[in-house]
Amino acid sequence: MIYYGADYYPEHWPEDRWAQDARLMQQAGFNVVRLAEFAWSQMEPAPGRYDFAWLDRAIDVLAAHGIRVVLGTPTASPPPWLMHNRPELFLVREDNSRATYGGRREYCPTHPLYRTHARQIAQAMAEHYHANPNVIGWQIDNEFGDRCYCENCRAAFQDWLRARYRTLDVLNRCWGTVFWSHEYTAWEQIPVPLANAVISNPGLDLDYRRFISATYVSLQQEQIAILRQRCPDQFITHNFMGFKYDKLDYFDLAEPLDLVTWDNYPRGFWSNEAAPPALLALSHATMRGLKRQNFWVMESQSGITGWQTMGAAPRPGEIRLWAYQAIAHGADGIVFFRWRTARFGAEQFWHGILDHDGQPRRRYAEVAALGSELQRIAAALEATETRTEVAMLLSYDSRFAFQIQPNNPDFDYATHLYDYYAALHRQHIAVDIVGPHADLSGYRMLIVPALYILPDNLAEKLEAFVEGGGTVVLTTRSGVKDFHNTVVDRPLPGLLSTLCGATVDEYDSLYQGSSIPIQAAGNSGITGAATVWCDILVPETAEVLATYGSDFYMGRPAITLNRYGKGRAFYVGTVGDRRLVDSVVRYVLSALNIRPPLKAPEDVEIALRWQADQPLIFALNHSSDTREVALEQPYVDLITDQPVGPVLTLPPKGVAILAPGETRS
Ligand code: GAL
Repeated sequence: MIYYGADYYPEHWPEDRWAQDARLMQQAGFNVVRLAEFAWSQMEPAPGRYDFAWLDRAIDVLAAHGIRVVLGTPTASPPPWLMHNRPELFLVREDNSRATYGGRREYCPTHPLYRTHARQIAQAMAEHYHANPNVIGWQIDNEFGDRCYCENCRAAFQDWLRARYRTLDVLNRCWGTVFWSHEYTAWEQIPVPLANAVISNPGLDLDYRRFISATYVSLQQEQIAILRQRCPDQFITHNFMGFKYDKLDYFDLAEPLDLVTWDNYPRGFWSNEAAPPALLALSHATMRGLKRQNFWVMESQSGITGWQTMGAAPRPGEIRLWAYQAIAHGADGIVFFRWRTARFGAEQFWHGILDHDGQPRRRYAEVAALGSELQRIAAALEATETRTEVAMLLSYDSRFAFQIQPNNPDFDYATHLYDYYAALHRQHIAVDIVGPHADLSGYRMLIVPALYILPDNLAEKLEAFVEGGGTVVLTTRSGVKDFHNTVVDRPLPGLLSTLCGATVDEYDSLYQGSSIPIQAAGNSGITGAATVWCDILVPETAEVLATYGSDFYMGRPAITLNRYGKGRAFYVGTVGDRRLVDSVVRYVLSALNIRPPLKAPEDVEIALRWQADQPLIFALNHSSDTREVALEQPYVDLITDQPVGPVLTLPPKGVAILAPGETRS
């Protein structure tokens, strides 16, 4: 079953409109809506006084049209009765300014009074809805995030540190507080890394980022505990923000949930260009990777986005294309944001499927047409999953540490990871995004970009992966720091040196925009330009695949390959331009004989879902022109139910789902 629906805010509309909305939703093939995630003041108008009558009626109207409900706990937007005259409940930003009332997500995530009220509303909702058969699941809060730097968080940070380090001696040693006389003699002396601290200790700063992440995990856990206890038959999710969001360790946040969902706005609200398809694909892969299971899109863009100013309208076919792209990457639910565009409030211009006047127009027609398609293909997608031999490792510890010290003004961890993902995407190779704790068995190729923070056990795990036959691609600035963000006292890449069979003799941080040509060694065919950073390598057991072509390290090794156990370890000592990353990726894929399922133009995305050994091949034309894909065997397109081949013709923004065979089985 594909869950299909919208985020609906019945509290924004006259009750006599609800039945018409539900009817239109039913006609569009909806079977689910998300409700109430910002309705705290409607559900609890005064402390401890609950009113669920309106929500019950809305759920009844929807249920009468075959639509079930995911309920959001409303804790992202606490009401005035809780926040008024209590500045201590508000989040303090990194620049030491305190948030004030009037938006959302303005709360301090550690404050006990906020937490008490958050638990109480979650408990009241759980009591009221646990036995309602039309409520199938819960979304906790909305898009957790934002770091708080208040005194309350500072005290909680000190407690968190005490529990981890036990003694100040250990903490002082791990952080190297002897530097600039920062040796702490009482836990209360430990600060939070405010921007006005001039420059903070990297160990403290990384731990603070971990602490805030853990704080949201524990905040979420308080509601999970309530819902698990009272609503054991309803699933629990949270709406994440895709690959780009970088303030929480999403692997930790996902761990206790049943389902990951995320919010996908391909056109954002800043540009008229949709996000590159590879970037959307990376978000889908990351969201799937958090639990290594299928996911939902809980907010899928359905109209013009914007708050004060507005972005471009989704082009005809895009709403459908974005939905199929998500499904191709493992989405089992597509929920649009939002049903109808709000007439008031901060998001008057963040458009939904219907405009302010509630009339169904082009976007509704596209959504409804997709709804009937999904009903036809749902059975074929049943129990299908994505599967691949290629993974990339995402380390939030390294991501946090690079936020503190990017090393080079042009270095961005997320962009570096994306560059490799995009190179694989151009080759039509499916990729899983996995975390440091993932089981790596089953993968043949693992790309590990800039694994800057490297705990001993992760180094051992990578060694074991290669020893057993895996291929790892490591890149520059790996193994630089230990778990505490202290630089290691051995040649780089530190604990990975034996695996790489090479060490970094010296490095160079390149000035903005400058580059060094890369020259293939032997017949490796690896070319392009080194950018941002150059590690000058000394091979020990490794073979040299490419060298630098200018500057004082001209002719010295830049990229190496080491055979280790039954596998191989590549080390790429630079960030590199697109040509370089493409040629490295092509080299590794061909060494492992990993091939794309179909040969297709670059802007036609190919992605697979599998049912046992039966693949369903999604072909997604992201371009605004017609595209052709040559097929080597007969297929049936599940959407049209027609045989296709020997050439598949995709109209602009067109999609096909190919099942092997001459007829549909
Ligand atoms: C999401 C959020 C929604 C809505 C939407 C449009 O990030 O979860 O509540 O605000 O963006 O801004």
